Amino acid sequence: MSNSQDFTVTPWEVKGEVDYDKLVREFGTQLLTEELLGRIKKHTGDIHLFLRRKIFFSHRDLDWILDRYEAGEKFFLYTGRGPSGHTHVGHLVPWIFTRHLQEKFGAELYFQMTDDEKFLHDEKMSLKESMGYTYENALDVIACGFEPGKTFIFSDVEYGKTLYKMAVEIAKHITYSTAKAVFGFEDSTNVGMIFFPCIQAVPCFLPSILKSKNMPCLIPAAIDQDPYWRGIARFVAPKLGFYKPAQIHSKFMPGLARGGKMSASDPKSAIFTVDPPEMAEEKVMSSYTGGRATVAEQRRLGGQAEICPVYHYYHFLFEEDEKELAKIYHDCKSGALLCGDCKANLAGKVRRFLTEHQRKRESARKKLDKFIIRD
Ligand code: TYM
Repeated sequence: MSNSQDFTVTPWEVKGEVDYDKLVREFGTQLLTEELLGRIKKHTGDIHLFLRRKIFFSHRDLDWILDRYEAGEKFFLYTGRGPSGHTHVGHLVPWIFTRHLQEKFGAELYFQMTDDEKFLHDEKMSLKESMGYTYENALDVIACGFEPGKTFIFSDVEYGKTLYKMAVEIAKHITYSTAKAVFGFEDSTNVGMIFFPCIQAVPCFLPSILKSKNMPCLIPAAIDQDPYWRGIARFVAPKLGFYKPAQIHSKFMPGLARGGKMSASDPKSAIFTVDPPEMAEEKVMSSYTGGRATVAEQRRLGGQAEICPVYHYYHFLFEEDEKELAKIYHDCKSGALLCGDCKANLAGKVRRFLTEHQRKRESARKKLDKFIIRD
């Protein structure tokens, strides 16, 4: 975890203006290079927008995964969700990218719902509630277009019989002092949380166990999840005879308030996939921006796109066309574009996006059984 003076990044909290270069140095990950992007392009045919825009920006052992793939060894994908509430559009970033990788590399996906983690972490959350959100969130995952038969979604609680055996194998190698150093646990932390990282490490090895052959694993996620891989999964892998899991890390889509990532704990600053589209439009219209105090000042000095969540929303999800995005940036900086117009344009795009996502989400209800695995 990183807990510097200006920002905090842990699997449970992201606060302040994140300095991604500093994070890469502290976590010891690698920045994605042009050479690596070139190697990906050989297999995918194009460079996904998230790579082009450096939204996915860092990795561990991605070059090794490509070596294995080029040598004819298939890898599987692993990602997940802590079902503490409804999905917000920031969560969709790693899932949309994972879907792209599944399609381009023909990979299976194991998707973990950590209803145990959210129950243990949040004092007010009942187990029934977090297990309920597992199913609500699964609809959003399926709506991203994953392939049935190649995508396995599971709740930790409902798939416990399979997961537990591997979790104890992992737990035996992790001392309390390691867990404390990696995750910042305190004396008041409940013992469930202290054991939990072993459960999140299990899917890195699960297909290797189920298929009785060692399989490379690639984890797409935002960089907040890295401590699980660095501190637990990659540490125990060689001790248990498995490959170390590789990762590709994204940045955080910001909230609509100033600073920090989009977070479910501040509902006005997050756009949830279940928000009625008109409500989401209102949230966009009342967003913080990088605008100046008066129209005259905005015309004279231009806006501050770099610190503006509205601009970042275009950049992450809501303007795919590079020329259009460059125009928004240029018109903002030159003072030609005022925040009200810029927000109204984004609000329309968010409405259309949600309407389409909600249609796919509803039709996912009938497909749940094709994706969920249980003991
Ligand atoms: P959770 O539910 O906090 O987050 C789910 C996924 O969304 C990413 N994420 C974001 N990405 C972009 N912008 C944001 N604002 C943003 N907020 C969250 C997270 O990095 C994550 O990829 N313990 C995990 C669940 C889990 C998991 C995994 C996640 C279990 N196994 C393997 C990734 C990979 C959790 O609570 O995620």
